[in-house]
Amino acid sequence: MIDPYGRFVSYLRVSVTDRCDLRCVYCMAEDMSFLPKADILSLEELERLCTAFVRKGVRRIRLTGGEPLVRRNIMSLINRLGHLVEAGQLDELTLTSNGTQLAKYADGLAKAGIRRINISLDTLDADKFATVTRWGRLDQVLDGIMAAKQAGLAIKINTVALKGVNDTEYDRLVEWCGRHGFDLCLIETMPMGEIHADRMEQYLPLSDVRAGLSRHWTLHDTDYRTGGPARYAQVAETGRRVGFITPMTHNFCESCNRVRITCTGTLFMCLGQDDAVDLRAPLRSSEADINLDQAIDQAIARKPKGHDFIIDRRTGPAVSRHMSVTGG
Ligand code: GTP
Ligand code: 5AD
Ligand code: SF4
Repeated sequence: MIDPYGRFVSYLRVSVTDRCDLRCVYCMAEDMSFLPKADILSLEELERLCTAFVRKGVRRIRLTGGEPLVRRNIMSLINRLGHLVEAGQLDELTLTSNGTQLAKYADGLAKAGIRRINISLDTLDADKFATVTRWGRLDQVLDGIMAAKQAGLAIKINTVALKGVNDTEYDRLVEWCGRHGFDLCLIETMPMGEIHADRMEQYLPLSDVRAGLSRHWTLHDTDYRTGGPARYAQVAETGRRVGFITPMTHNFCESCNRVRITCTGTLFMCLGQDDAVDLRAPLRSSEADINLDQAIDQAIARKPKGHDFIIDRRTGPAVSRHMSVTGG
Protein backbone atom coordinates (compact mmCIF):
# COMPACT_ATOMS: atom_id res chain seq x y z
CA MET A 1 0.00 0.00 0.00
CA ILE A 2 1.54 3.28 -1.14
CA ASP A 3 -0.23 6.58 -0.51
CA PRO A 4 -0.32 9.66 -2.78
CA TYR A 5 2.79 11.06 -1.07
CA GLY A 6 4.83 7.93 -1.73
CA ARG A 7 4.66 6.66 1.87
CA PHE A 8 4.45 2.90 2.43
CA VAL A 9 1.67 1.91 4.80
CA SER A 10 2.95 -1.05 6.76
CA TYR A 11 1.57 -0.43 10.25
CA LEU A 12 -2.02 -0.91 11.38
CA ARG A 13 -3.35 0.34 14.71
CA VAL A 14 -6.57 -1.32 15.81
CA SER A 15 -8.80 0.17 18.49
CA VAL A 16 -10.61 -2.92 19.77
CA THR A 17 -12.94 -0.92 22.04
CA ASP A 18 -13.57 2.77 22.68
CA ARG A 19 -14.34 1.97 26.33
CA CYS A 20 -11.91 2.44 29.16
CA ASP A 21 -11.88 1.90 32.92
CA LEU A 22 -10.12 5.27 33.40
CA ARG A 23 -11.07 8.82 32.43
CA CYS A 24 -7.76 10.65 31.91
CA VAL A 25 -8.42 14.39 31.94
CA TYR A 26 -6.63 15.09 28.61
CA CYS A 27 -8.28 12.15 26.86
CA MET A 28 -11.91 11.96 27.92
CA ALA A 29 -14.72 13.94 29.46
CA GLU A 30 -16.02 12.38 32.68
CA ASP A 31 -19.46 11.65 31.22
CA MET A 32 -18.45 9.98 27.96
CA SER A 33 -20.98 8.27 25.76
CA PHE A 34 -19.61 5.20 24.08
CA LEU A 35 -20.49 3.44 20.86
CA PRO A 36 -23.57 1.22 21.01
CA LYS A 37 -22.58 -2.45 21.35
CA ALA A 38 -24.60 -3.36 18.24
CA ASP A 39 -22.26 -1.28 16.04
CA ILE A 40 -19.12 -2.99 17.23
CA LEU A 41 -17.35 -5.60 15.14
CA SER A 42 -17.01 -9.07 16.58
CA LEU A 43 -13.49 -10.29 17.36
CA GLU A 44 -13.75 -12.61 14.35
CA GLU A 45 -14.56 -9.64 12.13
CA LEU A 46 -11.66 -7.65 13.55
CA GLU A 47 -9.38 -10.59 12.80
CA ARG A 48 -10.67 -10.74 9.23
CA LEU A 49 -9.93 -7.03 8.83
CA CYS A 50 -6.42 -7.44 10.22
CA THR A 51 -5.76 -10.37 7.90
CA ALA A 52 -6.88 -8.30 4.91
CA PHE A 53 -4.36 -5.61 5.85
CA VAL A 54 -1.61 -8.18 6.35
CA ARG A 55 -2.32 -9.53 2.88
CA LYS A 56 -1.85 -5.99 1.61
CA GLY A 57 1.56 -5.58 3.20
CA VAL A 58 1.02 -4.58 6.84
CA ARG A 59 3.94 -5.91 8.93
CA ARG A 60 3.06 -4.54 12.37
CA ILE A 61 -0.20 -4.43 14.27
CA ARG A 62 -0.77 -2.51 17.50
CA LEU A 63 -3.93 -3.10 19.49
CA THR A 64 -5.24 -0.04 21.32
CA GLY A 65 -8.50 1.25 22.74
CA GLY A 66 -9.85 2.85 24.87
CA GLU A 67 -8.26 0.16 26.97
CA PRO A 68 -7.81 -2.98 24.83
CA LEU A 69 -7.76 -5.34 27.82
CA VAL A 70 -11.27 -4.39 28.96
CA ARG A 71 -12.75 -5.95 25.83
CA ARG A 72 -14.31 -9.30 26.69
CA ASN A 73 -12.39 -12.32 25.37
CA ILE A 74 -9.65 -10.13 23.91
CA MET A 75 -7.07 -12.89 24.42
CA SER A 76 -8.73 -14.94 21.70
CA LEU A 77 -7.98 -12.20 19.13
CA ILE A 78 -4.48 -11.67 20.52
CA ASN A 79 -3.71 -15.39 20.32
CA ARG A 80 -4.92 -15.61 16.75
CA LEU A 81 -2.93 -12.55 15.64
CA GLY A 82 0.07 -13.98 17.51
CA HIS A 83 -0.05 -16.95 15.13
CA LEU A 84 0.57 -14.53 12.23
CA VAL A 85 3.80 -13.46 13.95
CA GLU A 86 4.77 -17.08 14.50
CA ALA A 87 4.09 -17.83 10.83
CA GLY A 88 6.29 -14.91 9.72
CA GLN A 89 3.36 -13.03 8.19
CA LEU A 90 3.72 -10.20 10.72
CA ASP A 91 6.92 -8.76 12.19
CA GLU A 92 5.30 -7.53 15.36
CA LEU A 93 2.12 -7.57 17.40
CA THR A 94 2.01 -5.02 20.22
CA LEU A 95 -0.36 -3.35 22.62
CA THR A 96 -0.85 0.10 24.12
CA SER A 97 -2.45 -0.29 27.55
CA ASN A 98 -3.23 1.72 30.66
CA GLY A 99 -1.88 -1.14 32.76
CA THR A 100 -4.89 -1.69 35.01
CA GLN A 101 -5.51 -5.26 33.81
CA LEU A 102 -1.91 -6.30 33.22
CA ALA A 103 -1.43 -8.24 36.44
CA LYS A 104 -4.02 -10.65 35.05
CA TYR A 105 -2.96 -10.64 31.38
CA ALA A 106 0.83 -10.16 31.23
CA ASP A 107 1.76 -13.86 31.09
CA GLY A 108 -0.85 -14.59 28.46
CA LEU A 109 0.36 -11.69 26.33
CA ALA A 110 3.95 -12.92 26.45
CA LYS A 111 2.81 -16.46 25.58
CA ALA A 112 0.83 -15.11 22.62
CA GLY A 113 4.04 -13.75 21.10
CA ILE A 114 3.89 -10.12 22.22
CA ARG A 115 7.42 -8.94 22.98
CA ARG A 116 6.95 -5.32 23.92
CA ILE A 117 4.16 -3.19 25.27
CA ASN A 118 3.52 0.54 25.75
CA ILE A 119 1.95 1.49 29.06
CA SER A 120 0.50 4.91 29.92
CA LEU A 121 1.69 6.38 33.21
CA ASP A 122 1.57 10.14 33.69
CA THR A 123 2.72 10.38 37.30
CA LEU A 124 4.28 8.33 40.10
CA ASP A 125 2.37 10.26 42.75
CA ALA A 126 -0.71 8.34 43.94
CA ASP A 127 -2.86 11.43 44.58
CA LYS A 128 -1.97 13.00 41.25
CA PHE A 129 -2.60 9.69 39.52
CA ALA A 130 -6.09 9.59 40.99
CA THR A 131 -6.67 13.18 39.82
CA VAL A 132 -5.34 12.71 36.27
CA THR A 133 -7.14 9.43 35.62
CA ARG A 134 -10.21 10.47 37.68
CA TRP A 135 -10.94 6.80 38.50
CA GLY A 136 -7.53 5.13 38.72
CA ARG A 137 -5.40 3.63 41.50
CA LEU A 138 -1.65 3.95 41.04
CA ASP A 139 -0.90 0.69 42.91
CA GLN A 140 -2.99 -1.34 40.52
CA VAL A 141 -1.11 0.04 37.51
CA LEU A 142 2.32 -0.38 39.12
CA ASP A 143 1.43 -4.01 39.89
CA GLY A 144 0.45 -4.42 36.26
CA ILE A 145 3.70 -2.88 35.02
CA MET A 146 5.76 -5.16 37.27
CA ALA A 147 3.79 -8.19 36.09
CA ALA A 148 4.62 -7.24 32.49
CA LYS A 149 8.29 -6.90 33.40
CA GLN A 150 8.21 -10.26 35.17
CA ALA A 151 6.66 -11.84 32.09
CA GLY A 152 9.66 -10.68 30.06
CA LEU A 153 7.90 -7.98 28.02
CA ALA A 154 9.97 -4.94 26.98
CA ILE A 155 8.21 -1.88 28.36
CA LYS A 156 7.86 1.67 27.12
CA ILE A 157 6.17 4.08 29.49
CA ASN A 158 4.06 6.79 27.81
CA THR A 159 3.76 10.06 29.72
CA VAL A 160 1.71 12.96 28.40
CA ALA A 161 3.42 16.20 29.50
CA LEU A 162 0.87 18.18 31.50
CA LYS A 163 1.45 21.62 32.92
CA GLY A 164 0.72 21.84 36.63
CA VAL A 165 0.28 18.05 36.85
CA ASN A 166 3.53 16.24 36.15
CA ASP A 167 5.90 19.08 35.21
CA THR A 168 8.00 18.55 38.33
CA GLU A 169 8.27 14.79 37.80
CA TYR A 170 10.20 14.17 34.59
CA ASP A 171 13.53 13.71 36.36
CA ARG A 172 11.92 11.23 38.71
CA LEU A 173 10.32 9.36 35.81
CA VAL A 174 13.64 9.15 33.94
CA GLU A 175 15.28 7.79 37.09
CA TRP A 176 12.47 5.34 37.84
CA CYS A 177 12.34 4.03 34.25
CA GLY A 178 16.12 3.74 34.19
CA ARG A 179 16.11 1.75 37.41
CA HIS A 180 13.50 -0.69 36.10
CA GLY A 181 14.91 -0.99 32.58
CA PHE A 182 12.02 0.76 30.82
CA ASP A 183 12.14 3.28 27.99
CA LEU A 184 10.18 6.47 28.58
CA CYS A 185 8.26 8.42 25.97
CA LEU A 186 7.09 11.95 26.64
CA ILE A 187 4.14 13.15 24.56
CA GLU A 188 2.68 16.57 23.75
CA THR A 189 -1.05 16.67 24.37
CA MET A 190 -3.13 16.81 21.18
CA PRO A 191 -6.45 18.63 20.73
CA MET A 192 -8.74 15.65 20.08
CA GLY A 193 -12.36 15.64 21.26
CA GLU A 194 -14.18 17.84 23.77
CA ILE A 195 -12.83 17.22 27.28
CA HIS A 196 -14.56 20.07 29.15
CA ALA A 197 -11.20 21.55 30.17
CA ASP A 198 -8.89 24.21 28.78
CA ARG A 199 -6.13 22.46 26.84
CA MET A 200 -4.06 25.66 26.99
CA GLU A 201 -3.77 25.04 30.70
CA GLN A 202 -2.52 21.49 30.12
CA TYR A 203 -0.23 21.94 27.13
CA LEU A 204 3.55 21.88 27.58
CA PRO A 205 5.92 21.99 24.60
CA LEU A 206 8.50 19.21 24.86
CA SER A 207 11.31 21.58 23.86
CA ASP A 208 10.90 23.05 27.38
CA VAL A 209 10.75 19.62 28.98
CA ARG A 210 13.89 18.48 27.20
CA ALA A 211 15.76 21.64 28.25
CA GLY A 212 14.79 20.88 31.86
CA LEU A 213 15.94 17.25 31.62
CA SER A 214 19.27 18.32 30.12
CA ARG A 215 20.15 20.04 33.39
CA HIS A 216 20.33 16.70 35.21
CA TRP A 217 20.88 14.08 32.54
CA THR A 218 23.25 13.64 29.62
CA LEU A 219 21.05 13.10 26.56
CA HIS A 220 22.62 11.78 23.38
CA ASP A 221 20.41 11.84 20.28
CA THR A 222 20.14 8.44 18.62
CA ASP A 223 18.69 7.23 15.36
CA TYR A 224 16.91 4.35 17.14
CA ARG A 225 13.38 4.08 15.70
CA THR A 226 10.46 1.82 16.45
CA GLY A 227 8.58 2.85 13.35
CA GLY A 228 6.56 5.27 15.51
CA PRO A 229 6.78 9.06 15.69
CA ALA A 230 9.12 9.27 18.70
CA ARG A 231 12.65 10.64 18.40
CA TYR A 232 14.87 9.01 21.01
CA ALA A 233 17.82 10.14 23.08
CA GLN A 234 20.01 7.82 25.13
CA VAL A 235 20.31 8.80 28.79
CA ALA A 236 24.00 8.27 29.59
CA GLU A 237 23.41 7.91 33.36
CA THR A 238 20.72 5.21 33.11
CA GLY A 239 21.55 3.50 29.81
CA ARG A 240 17.87 3.68 28.83
CA ARG A 241 16.17 5.79 26.19
CA VAL A 242 13.87 8.74 26.51
CA GLY A 243 11.66 9.49 23.51
CA PHE A 244 9.87 12.67 22.50
CA ILE A 245 6.61 12.67 20.56
CA THR A 246 6.02 16.20 19.34
CA PRO A 247 2.89 16.49 17.20
CA MET A 248 2.52 20.15 18.21
CA THR A 249 6.04 21.56 17.98
CA HIS A 250 7.50 19.30 15.31
CA ASN A 251 5.32 17.59 12.81
CA PHE A 252 6.54 14.14 11.78
CA CYS A 253 3.83 13.33 9.24
CA GLU A 254 6.23 13.11 6.30
CA SER A 255 7.38 9.71 7.60
CA CYS A 256 3.91 8.44 8.54
CA ASN A 257 3.53 4.73 7.81
CA ARG A 258 0.25 3.99 9.54
CA VAL A 259 -3.52 3.85 9.37
CA ARG A 260 -6.00 3.00 12.11
CA ILE A 261 -9.27 1.14 12.37
CA THR A 262 -11.87 1.63 15.03
CA CYS A 263 -13.89 -1.11 16.72
CA THR A 264 -16.77 -0.36 14.33
CA GLY A 265 -14.56 -0.97 11.30
CA THR A 266 -14.04 2.67 10.33
CA LEU A 267 -10.65 3.32 8.76
CA PHE A 268 -8.99 6.63 9.66
CA MET A 269 -6.08 7.45 7.39
CA CYS A 270 -4.76 10.22 9.68
CA LEU A 271 -5.03 10.74 13.44
CA GLY A 272 -5.59 14.47 13.01
CA GLN A 273 -8.15 14.51 10.18
CA ASP A 274 -11.85 13.63 9.97
CA ASP A 275 -11.81 11.82 6.65
CA ALA A 276 -12.60 8.12 7.13
CA VAL A 277 -13.80 5.11 5.16
CA ASP A 278 -16.30 2.54 6.37
CA LEU A 279 -14.97 -1.00 6.07
CA ARG A 280 -17.79 -2.67 7.99
CA ALA A 281 -20.28 -2.59 5.10
CA PRO A 282 -17.87 -4.10 2.53
CA LEU A 283 -16.69 -6.60 5.16
CA ARG A 284 -20.24 -7.77 5.82
CA SER A 285 -21.39 -7.56 2.20
CA SER A 286 -19.71 -10.79 1.19
CA GLU A 287 -17.64 -13.65 2.51
CA ALA A 288 -15.11 -12.95 -0.17
CA ASP A 289 -12.84 -9.98 0.42
CA ILE A 290 -13.07 -8.28 -2.99
CA ASN A 291 -15.23 -5.38 -1.81
CA LEU A 292 -13.15 -4.98 1.31
CA ASP A 293 -9.88 -4.92 -0.62
CA GLN A 294 -11.29 -2.33 -2.98
CA ALA A 295 -12.47 -0.10 -0.11
CA ILE A 296 -9.01 -0.30 1.50
CA ASP A 297 -7.29 0.67 -1.76
CA GLN A 298 -9.61 3.65 -2.19
CA ALA A 299 -8.90 4.77 1.37
CA ILE A 300 -5.12 4.59 1.02
CA ALA A 301 -5.39 6.68 -2.14
CA ARG A 302 -6.98 9.39 0.05
CA LYS A 303 -4.45 9.39 2.90
CA PRO A 304 -3.92 13.06 3.71
CA LYS A 305 -0.54 14.72 3.92
CA GLY A 306 -0.78 15.23 7.67
CA HIS A 307 -2.44 16.90 10.61
CA ASP A 308 -2.38 20.52 11.63
CA PHE A 309 -3.04 20.52 15.34
CA ILE A 310 -3.33 23.91 17.06
CA ILE A 311 -3.86 24.60 20.74
CA ASP A 312 -4.99 28.12 21.57
CA ARG A 313 -7.88 29.80 23.36
CA ARG A 314 -9.99 30.36 20.25
CA THR A 315 -9.65 27.09 18.39
CA GLY A 316 -11.63 24.03 19.45
CA PRO A 317 -10.43 20.43 19.03
CA ALA A 318 -8.81 19.71 15.63
CA VAL A 319 -11.08 16.68 15.30
CA SER A 320 -14.27 16.02 17.21
CA ARG A 321 -13.54 12.40 18.05
CA HIS A 322 -11.60 11.53 21.19
CA MET A 323 -8.22 9.79 21.19
CA SER A 324 -10.00 6.72 22.62
CA VAL A 325 -11.87 6.18 19.32
CA THR A 326 -8.64 5.45 17.45
CA GLY A 327 -6.20 4.81 20.29
CA GLY A 328 -3.60 7.28 19.06
P1 GTP B 1 5.91 2.47 19.06
O1 GTP B 1 6.74 3.54 18.39
O2 GTP B 1 5.65 1.30 18.22
O3 GTP B 1 6.43 2.11 20.42
O4 GTP B 1 4.48 3.10 19.28
P2 GTP B 1 3.90 4.58 19.34
O5 GTP B 1 4.70 5.43 20.27
O6 GTP B 1 3.71 5.05 17.94
O7 GTP B 1 2.46 4.25 19.92
P3 GTP B 1 1.71 4.54 21.27
O8 GTP B 1 0.42 3.83 21.15
O9 GTP B 1 2.55 4.23 22.44
O10 GTP B 1 1.44 6.07 21.19
C1 GTP B 1 2.21 7.04 21.83
C2 GTP B 1 1.72 8.40 21.44
O11 GTP B 1 2.03 8.64 20.08
C3 GTP B 1 0.20 8.57 21.58
O12 GTP B 1 -0.09 9.83 22.13
C4 GTP B 1 -0.26 8.52 20.15
O13 GTP B 1 -1.42 9.26 19.97
C5 GTP B 1 0.91 9.14 19.43
N1 GTP B 1 0.93 8.75 18.03
C6 GTP B 1 1.10 7.51 17.53
N2 GTP B 1 1.03 7.56 16.19
C7 GTP B 1 0.81 8.85 15.84
C8 GTP B 1 0.64 9.55 14.61
O14 GTP B 1 0.67 8.99 13.52
N3 GTP B 1 0.42 10.89 14.67
C9 GTP B 1 0.38 11.55 15.85
N4 GTP B 1 0.16 12.86 15.84
N5 GTP B 1 0.53 10.93 17.03
C10 GTP B 1 0.74 9.61 17.03
N1 5AD C 1 -2.85 13.86 23.43
C1 5AD C 1 -1.73 13.10 23.49
N2 5AD C 1 -1.71 11.83 23.93
C2 5AD C 1 -2.87 11.32 24.34
N3 5AD C 1 -3.17 10.12 24.83
C3 5AD C 1 -4.48 10.07 25.07
N4 5AD C 1 -5.07 11.25 24.78
C4 5AD C 1 -4.08 12.05 24.32
C5 5AD C 1 -4.04 13.38 23.84
N5 5AD C 1 -5.14 14.15 23.76
C6 5AD C 1 -2.14 9.09 25.02
C7 5AD C 1 -2.37 8.16 26.20
C8 5AD C 1 -1.70 6.88 25.73
C9 5AD C 1 -1.61 7.00 24.23
C10 5AD C 1 -2.33 5.96 23.48
O1 5AD C 1 -2.17 8.25 23.90
O2 5AD C 1 -1.78 8.62 27.37
O3 5AD C 1 -0.41 6.74 26.25
FE1 SF4 D 1 -8.25 5.42 29.07
FE2 SF4 D 1 -5.85 5.73 27.88
FE3 SF4 D 1 -7.76 7.57 27.53
FE4 SF4 D 1 -6.58 7.32 29.95
S1 SF4 D 1 -5.58 7.91 28.01
S2 SF4 D 1 -8.82 7.50 29.55
S3 SF4 D 1 -6.24 5.17 30.06
S4 SF4 D 1 -7.87 5.48 26.83
